[in-house]
Amino acid sequence: MFRTHTCGELRIGNAGQAVTLAGWVQRNREMGGLTFIDLRDRYGITQLVFNMEINSDLCRDARELGREFVIRVRGKVAERFNKNPKIPTGEIEILVEELIVLNPSKIPPFTIEDHTDGGEELRMKYRYLDLRRNENRKNLFLRHQMAIETRNYLNFKDFIEIETPYLIKSTPEGARDFVVPSRMNEGQFYALPQSPQTFKQLLMIAGYDRYYQIVRCFRDEDLRADRQPEFTQIDCEMAFVTRDDVLNTFEGLAKHLFISVLNVEVSDFPRMPYQEAMKLYGSDKPDIRFGMTLHELNHLLQNKGFKIFDDAGLVVGIKAEGCGDYSRKQLEELTDFVKRPQVGATGLAYIKYTTDGAIKSSVDKFYTPENLKLVLDEMGAKPADLILILAGNTDKIRSAMGDLRLEMGKRLDLINPVEFKPLWVIDFPLLEWDEETRRFYAKHHPFTSPKPEDISLLETDPDAVRANAYDLVINGTEIGGGSIRIHNKELQQKMFRVLGFTEEEATNQFGFLMNAFEYGAPPHGGIAFGFDRWVTLFGGGDSIRDFIAFPKNNAGRDVMIDSPSVISEEQLKELGISPSTK
Ligand code: AMO
Repeated sequence: MFRTHTCGELRIGNAGQAVTLAGWVQRNREMGGLTFIDLRDRYGITQLVFNMEINSDLCRDARELGREFVIRVRGKVAERFNKNPKIPTGEIEILVEELIVLNPSKIPPFTIEDHTDGGEELRMKYRYLDLRRNENRKNLFLRHQMAIETRNYLNFKDFIEIETPYLIKSTPEGARDFVVPSRMNEGQFYALPQSPQTFKQLLMIAGYDRYYQIVRCFRDEDLRADRQPEFTQIDCEMAFVTRDDVLNTFEGLAKHLFISVLNVEVSDFPRMPYQEAMKLYGSDKPDIRFGMTLHELNHLLQNKGFKIFDDAGLVVGIKAEGCGDYSRKQLEELTDFVKRPQVGATGLAYIKYTTDGAIKSSVDKFYTPENLKLVLDEMGAKPADLILILAGNTDKIRSAMGDLRLEMGKRLDLINPVEFKPLWVIDFPLLEWDEETRRFYAKHHPFTSPKPEDISLLETDPDAVRANAYDLVINGTEIGGGSIRIHNKELQQKMFRVLGFTEEEATNQFGFLMNAFEYGAPPHGGIAFGFDRWVTLFGGGDSIRDFIAFPKNNAGRDVMIDSPSVISEEQLKELGISPSTK
């Protein structure tokens, strides 16, 4: 047997036993005639002892062992003199009788410790060393556990896991595709799936009425902390269901994951229409762990002669409790925050209700104290509160105020990092107008069904059509999204027309799906969750990268294998790609 136990396994009850362990040298220290080695594997750390007086050759060999050497030892388990209550094996040590170096190691470029000295770039380059660290090991284990519990829940609910292809067809909707040249079909390309959307719908038509897949998806989009070019979805679809069936089933999945993985009980998820989320939180993924909701002030602050407010589509405020005595500097900081291009406001107005009851405002030239007091009263402000006000284009200002709300939530420590507040955001608009290309895009995707009562508006007032679509939002993160689908050819054709497809384009790209709709397509709907995001949320992390074994960096590169890379002229030729297109 190569090893009898792992490095996390032995306890005081094993004292006296002969054992063989194998692992990596974490630390090597000398104390008088003794040498102590911490031997590590993914299960834990066990202390090895070598005694100069008992076996000087062996002890000398042990002193030569460097960090990350892979060794195998045979010895006896003994009770420790100095116990370490911080680790599960802390009551025992191994009195080593035989040492074999299985493989030496170069000095690692950073320490394999919880608090490592390695910068991110270096750790990415040596990801296999970084993955030896506790934090990463814990993250990958959490990921594994969540995958198991997802499968347990869905299998129990009669879902079956079916794989769909990775080499599919490029379509112009959504993000950019990653494409793969076909050698056998010169000049033609596969695309890697942005999601298995059309395949899971075809599976519904094929009669597999409950499908899921934990599946890799590929999107060539700009990267952020919560985006990777390849990421994993828990992708699900159901036939013969209403929206509420889908929401209840997957609220069940979410609750199961909360309880089985985190031991956290969450109450029923509120369902908030998109319009309400935008009005109250300035976001379609509201963080409802704290209040400070947006309050519209048009009726109180317009038509009093202040042009900026008068010209605005929306004048909106939030109340920051306890900030009524903010200094000029603090207010300037907030003004700088809202003027950042990512936030996009042109300025910030305020009304300070100071602790001693005075009302001071950046707009007091235009408003009487009575006017300002009306705002304070309507917003329920008390002395020592501060009202922050933005004005401008309705959509832009709502979202800027949403950002300012989150910023104030952080500054005032109103966001409890260990609390979870999930909700469903429902009734999204079906379409989104793009000024640049002057056409509508599907807000979710072109297969999402309009709400039945809004179908008649599709060609007359597309802006007003609501989708039968929903997102699962937890603590301000969009964890998943889905919809009830169109399952009727005429409606799907109409949708493509509204999206500006010619009949021919629609047939070329999605003819297979529309044809399938003519062979008994059942009503169906589903959802996909961003698995990486969900694991990151459960693990309390900031970036999904920390929960993916081999992620890409911000430039979309894998710095460990140095990819993407150029390929040889022969390879290009074989693929029918002219080398000049490199
Ligand atoms: P959607 O595009 O909303 O829907 O994606 C579903 C969920 O996947 C996650 N996600 C990502 N995670 C990491 N990196 C990315 N680049 C990335 N892009 C998306 C998000 C998102 O909520 N086929 C539909 C689902 C459906 O209708 O059933 C779809 O893919 O958490």
